[in-house]
Amino acid sequence: MTFDKSIEKQLPSTRTTELDSICLKAEVIPVLAIQRVEDAVPLAAALVEGGLGVLEVTLRTDCALEAVRRIKAALPQASIGVGTVLTPAQYRQAEQAGADFVVTPGTTEALYLYGVTSPVPMLPGMATVSELMAGWQYGYRRFKFFPAEASGGVKALKAFAGPIAEARFCPTGGINLDNAEDYLALKNVMCVGGSWLTPNSLVEAEDWDGIRHLAREAAQRFHH
Ligand code: 3PG
Repeated sequence: MTFDKSIEKQLPSTRTTELDSICLKAEVIPVLAIQRVEDAVPLAAALVEGGLGVLEVTLRTDCALEAVRRIKAALPQASIGVGTVLTPAQYRQAEQAGADFVVTPGTTEALYLYGVTSPVPMLPGMATVSELMAGWQYGYRRFKFFPAEASGGVKALKAFAGPIAEARFCPTGGINLDNAEDYLALKNVMCVGGSWLTPNSLVEAEDWDGIRHLAREAAQRFHH
């Protein structure tokens, strides 16, 4: 498929390649909402030690950016995405905190435009073919399908492959150990995301062994 020449700003294809090499390392991307900044490093370390080397730290808590800085310093081998990015200003903060990639729950024109010139690749959130088309015209080829289960799940992803077969997705939202396999079996799914690997009960209890166990279970079950 060729670019729409009337759109002047296009995402360089290198951003897609960068996202591919990150997603290739991860069948499952844990989604983290860190409440206490002291939990950031032990939590991330448990996930990485369990075999999940790509994490999404959401901007849903006040300490999220500080958590990203600490995780980046302590675990340089891990790829850290900053999630729940809603505005270009937050995108910039994620860049400054050292994010390897940025994830959004949905997308605006402003975010698509900002992502075109940012050195940090974005995985834009979308749930419909129209949103997919909006990103496509700016050169985006990889997307977060969110909220996956509520937006048609596996059936919707199969349908997206009709009009835009080249797009690849990281479905997130309502995914767990039981249904992840159905998503990962699709040709246009590169990995899945979910918060089931970081249950509040384990994090509050600082049960890092429990988290490591959950990560290992997912890493072993879904290994390519
Ligand atoms: C996200 O932001 O990606 C979601 O909150 C994760 O969805 P889940 O909690 O249903 O896994």
